[in-house]
Amino acid sequence: MLKLTNVKKTFNPGSVNEKRALTGVNLELEEGDFVTVIGGNGAGKSTLLNMVSGVYPLDSGVIELGGVDVSRLSEPARAKYLGRVFQDPMMGTAADMQIDENLALARRRGKHRGLAWGISAAEKKEYPELLATLGLGLETRMTAKVGLLSGGQRQALTLLMATLTNPKLLLLDEHTAALDPKTAAKVLELTDKIVSERGLTTLMVTHNMNDAIRLGNRLIMMHNGNVIYDVRSEEKKRLTVSGLLQKFEEVSGGELANDRMLLS
Ligand SMILES: Nc1ncnc2c1ncn2[C@@H]1O[C@H](COP(=O)(O)OP(=O)(O)O)[C@@H](O)[C@H]1O
Ligand SMILES: [Mg+2]
Repeated sequence: MLKLTNVKKTFNPGSVNEKRALTGVNLELEEGDFVTVIGGNGAGKSTLLNMVSGVYPLDSGVIELGGVDVSRLSEPARAKYLGRVFQDPMMGTAADMQIDENLALARRRGKHRGLAWGISAAEKKEYPELLATLGLGLETRMTAKVGLLSGGQRQALTLLMATLTNPKLLLLDEHTAALDPKTAAKVLELTDKIVSERGLTTLMVTHNMNDAIRLGNRLIMMHNGNVIYDVRSEEKKRLTVSGLLQKFEEVSGGELANDRMLLS
């Protein structure tokens, strides 16, 4: 479903600020893979997701989505294949628009028709049912402006919007990190439910090692711009946090420098 071949990205090449963010990543995701991504600060996790979504042009390498080479496609051109949720709850939704309007925009993503034709009767029936699955009471607030919602409600809505059109690939970049622990747990539970029920191919960056072990069928660890550990299925189920830390030291030759990870 996703295939990266020797993907490289250096920021500010040739300057004092030169940073080799991805150093030749090879990664292949099967359809339905739910991959958790961990690694220290600056390991290249966000850059990996940004390269897949076309935020930055590739230096070299190939990115294929569902067998299609998207390496040269622009970010908007790739958007129809992807669902994305970022750390910041403000980013995925339009604050000045109503909940139903946000969902309707997500429904029309990658299509030419905008909201000018209005929200259809079918959608007016569908959206409350969808929102009810979140268990946050949003189904009774269809015409509320999204800016009035809490961070957690907004992130749950973003998740729903990102997965509304069953994307080929779902990219989650620490999407619960800005939420309080209880809300974060709730949004994570929703994530697991949506991803599992629909078998969505997913890359989820998290700084919580317990979550990384508990969720998904595969875990990758990044360090210095590359994947240094890739574990799946039964072997992944047997992982522990201390085992993971030990693995990190083994493969990176140093200790994990990520306070948030170690404290979680
Ligand atoms: N837009 C950018 N411009 C310059 N450097 C960047 C940019 N994005 C990321 N970097 C650098 O690339 C490296 C990897 O960053 P990032 O992928 O954000 O790491 P992570 O998400 O694993 O913490 C870091 O050294 C970071 O400073
Ligand atoms: Mg990051």
